[in-house]
Amino acid sequence: MSTPTEWYRDQYLISISPSLLQPAAVNEAFKSDSIYWAKPIGEPLVKKMLEKSLCFGLYELPSSTSSIAGKNGPRQIGLARLITDEVSFAYLTDVYVLDEFQGKGLGTWLIECVEAHVMKWPELRRIMLITSHTNKLYEEKLGVKPFPQGVNNEMSVFSRAGLGSVLPH
Ligand SMILES: CC(C)(COP(=O)(O)OP(=O)(O)OC[C@H]1O[C@@H](n2cnc3c(N)ncnc32)[C@H](O)[C@@H]1OP(=O)(O)O)[C@@H](O)C(=O)NCCC(=O)NCCS
Repeated sequence: MSTPTEWYRDQYLISISPSLLQPAAVNEAFKSDSIYWAKPIGEPLVKKMLEKSLCFGLYELPSSTSSIAGKNGPRQIGLARLITDEVSFAYLTDVYVLDEFQGKGLGTWLIECVEAHVMKWPELRRIMLITSHTNKLYEEKLGVKPFPQGVNNEMSVFSRAGLGSVLPH
């Protein structure tokens, strides 16, 4: 069975189509305080970042033909970005729903769509993400668990923050 590439609910669309992605909208979202891990960067860099990732774009569909006039496509209002080889490993980042659309179940739906997609990768070794969020969204919808930290012979996670990071180095 083929994997869906778009999902519809009410007036919203989630799609993995690169052609719908709006780098300017994503960069604008990076200005928000609630996206605490990112800052706006050059738009060509955002475009490259999106092109080289598997992006689940969240869009608000137009409610009337008059609201379509002069627009190139539905407005991007959220994102979940997987940096992945689409076989063995995926790193989930840049998950957001714009403030005005939060609390409607759209964030949960985004992660459900990510889960539906990665389930089709039978050889997947690991999905990773870093979050300061306390809600159970990722555990419940993506099946991730906190990484065991350096007790006995358990493995440690190493990282190096670059200039693009706004998180503590
Ligand atoms: C996290 C986020 C993507 C959830 O999107 P959403 O569409 O609001 O999510 P839902 O309506 O499906 O609710 C999912 C959970 O988010 C919580 N939530 C809803 N609105 C929220 C808000 N404004 N701020 C924080 N959490 C919120 C809900 O309480 C729910 O948690 P629960 O299941 O424990 O009750 C969204 O709040 C967001 O973009 N926050 C800012 C960026 C961010 O923190 N991203 C996640 C980084 S790991």
